[in-house]
Amino acid sequence: MNLSERIKKLAEQHFDDLVATRRHLHSHPELSFEEYETTKFIANKLQENGYDLQAITETGGYIDIKGKNPSSKIIALRGDIDALPILEQNQVEYKSKNEGKMHACGHDVHTTCLLGAVRILDELKDEFEGTVRCIFQPGEEKLPGGASIMIKNGVLQNPKVEKILGQHVMPLIDAGKVGFRSGLYMASADEIYIRVLGKGGHGAHPHQNIDPVAIAAQIITQLQTVVSRHAKPSIPTVLSIGKVIANGATNIIPDEVYMEGTFRTYDEEWRMRAHTLIEKMCNDIAEAHGATCEAEVRKGYPFLKNDEDLSNNARMWAVEYLGEENVEDLEIWPAGEDFAYYSQEIPACFYRLGTRNQELGITSMLHTPTFDIDEKALKVGSGLMAWLALKELSPTLNPSPKDKDQS
Ligand code: NI
Repeated sequence: MNLSERIKKLAEQHFDDLVATRRHLHSHPELSFEEYETTKFIANKLQENGYDLQAITETGGYIDIKGKNPSSKIIALRGDIDALPILEQNQVEYKSKNEGKMHACGHDVHTTCLLGAVRILDELKDEFEGTVRCIFQPGEEKLPGGASIMIKNGVLQNPKVEKILGQHVMPLIDAGKVGFRSGLYMASADEIYIRVLGKGGHGAHPHQNIDPVAIAAQIITQLQTVVSRHAKPSIPTVLSIGKVIANGATNIIPDEVYMEGTFRTYDEEWRMRAHTLIEKMCNDIAEAHGATCEAEVRKGYPFLKNDEDLSNNARMWAVEYLGEENVEDLEIWPAGEDFAYYSQEIPACFYRLGTRNQELGITSMLHTPTFDIDEKALKVGSGLMAWLALKELSPTLNPSPKDKDQS
């Protein structure tokens, strides 16, 4: 039996435990940076395999799985562990027991798959050279992002981690399949807050007032030119205003208008220039009408770039493991993700694990109260993570004859 078949067999053998682990995590979700029970659970699971979770932040942590010649090369696998403030609407036996909290972004799945990969890698540690650092990361869903804190606290040091892989569920892809993209993948995501301060009064006498509604309307339209006239066409950019509050009435001009929006792009230098431009446009338009404006762009996560070599190799190894028909190419995805912080430090690859099953009615999107997965994805997710780590550490590993189980 070759190595990929051995991994598949192990993932199959572990399947019941993977399902139980995922269901436990799913029914006990904890919010970002409050993952105390989750971390205890992870630490206990790791201890079953003889590993002590190394604390590096208040919740979460990492372990190192050492193969032969452990200092020759070190790579990392990352799974995030936090949940969202959503009231789950799925009627399933593993429904969230923590009301108002839910694993609606699949981080229960990421944690389970990483635990599964730990078990497989531990069983195969005579088969690879180097070390695999497995990072259980808190606080992906909340600024400043658990990744940035873990990096600051040295999770990529001692010894220096050379490359990192991360896996995320994707309800647009069928369970059993995965998706890769090399190069730009996810966007930097910044928040826009605008308050236009005018002078309210009777709607019949606009000349006696300073109408912040008319000014806000101009600001909304003008901000679209940040994308259409200022962004370089080769740099994908999105600007959306999603909240506008002008609390007047048919005959009342309000004193102020409040707006919120998002700015997303894929270039750090342009991102900083755009922030200044957005704030200046808001202030200048307000000023031209005698109003004032408080405009602020708050920084979120940076953009996520998948290293070309690592991602192309990972895609090729995924094809070896799952077959060409089960590996898809991803489009650019302008959501934010704090895995981006790792990608700013070292070569990184963030890929997608399919979880959809139309026949079972499992189609809900991420961050919705009915998100769920086809659990057969747990086998693919745990096995593939282990396989990619092995291939990255020992690329000459032949998927064909190297059979230790033959006796
Ligand atoms: Ni997520």
